[in-house]
Amino acid sequence: MTTRRLVLTRSAAVVGAASAGLLLPGIVRAQSNRVRVGFMLPYTGTYAQLGVNIENGVRMAINEKGGKLGGREIEWFKVDDESEPSKGVENAQRLVQRDKVDVLIGTVHSGVQMGIQRVARESGVLSLIPNAGAHAATRGLCAPNVFRTSFTNSQPTLALGKPMVDKGLKKAVWITWKYAAGDEAFEGFKQSYTKAGGTIVKELGLPFPNVEFQALLTEIASLNPDAVACFFAGGGAAKFIRDYAAAGLKDKIPLWGSGFLTEGVLDAAGAAADGIMTTMHYADSLDTPRNNQFRKAFATTFKLQPDVYAVQGYDTGLLLAQGMEAVKGDIGNKQALYKALENQTIDSPRGKWTMSKAHNPIQDIYLRRVENKDNKVIGIAAKALADSGAGCKMAGA
Ligand code: BEZ
Repeated sequence: MTTRRLVLTRSAAVVGAASAGLLLPGIVRAQSNRVRVGFMLPYTGTYAQLGVNIENGVRMAINEKGGKLGGREIEWFKVDDESEPSKGVENAQRLVQRDKVDVLIGTVHSGVQMGIQRVARESGVLSLIPNAGAHAATRGLCAPNVFRTSFTNSQPTLALGKPMVDKGLKKAVWITWKYAAGDEAFEGFKQSYTKAGGTIVKELGLPFPNVEFQALLTEIASLNPDAVACFFAGGGAAKFIRDYAAAGLKDKIPLWGSGFLTEGVLDAAGAAADGIMTTMHYADSLDTPRNNQFRKAFATTFKLQPDVYAVQGYDTGLLLAQGMEAVKGDIGNKQALYKALENQTIDSPRGKWTMSKAHNPIQDIYLRRVENKDNKVIGIAAKALADSGAGCKMAGA
């Protein structure tokens, strides 16, 4: 067993059997009739906390439904994908071929997701995407067995441009990590900002997960735009917010972004984050009975404050539990299961949402402002926003 493979099972005997070789997991499955669920998430690196919150969210939702899927016990498996795209296929194959999972839940990083997508399409394993927003997963490379419970990378930023221009911020610099998530977030920003009458004066970027922002912040200061818009997430986002303030830009050039910028990082960023404006499909302060109950239960169970990643994990657990309930645990009845997953309404802490034909959430996008370590809702920036699903060729899409 490699050090990256973290297998969670319900008994030491099962751990021993599963670690002994490739044949044994099949035997364990036959004996136990358990549903085998694999997490492929980052548990190290700049996205580590995102992985933890997603897993916690999934477990919480399933526990609330009695801890079973369609009446069947669960056997859990975990792989740390390290947000490393070059290992994406290999890690997904570990879960699918070696551990023989029935369901693969993953991942966070869009580049790694492309490896999962390949394995999912080749193997036909049920694949639930709890974060990674790579367009291709629910566009050109969509598949009947792949469902996303989060967003596409351009969904939040398609709602970002207009509120900026409405505030009189007509010249912006864009800055991001240069990989699919940042590039596709830019696509949404460019479309919405230019349509509203804004001009993008410069696009800046650095490789993921580099956090040496200083030279780029100096360039922003000299360009002196009306505003800066960006995509960053996880530990790197907290550092960007702190460095932006330390460079003296916070009170001179308003900072806007795809909402991941301020998710799960507000304690680490402190006062440097106050006033940042973002668009996102969730906000801590959504004052609904559903969100309030979720936040209280999550904080009590995990001694952590939930964020958008916890919500996406929770919704993944709800979707899986509801789908498995509909087929009474018969995960082999793929046609009925996929139909059930397509037709669910998810009563989420973010607000109710449904699946698009290409298997991506149709959801409201909120405009938020950071106040005292909280993402405060200012309003709805886009109602029931669906991704285009362009290029998805699937029956019904
Ligand atoms: C992505 O790589 O798709 C991603 C990572 C973190 C937050 C949002 C998107």
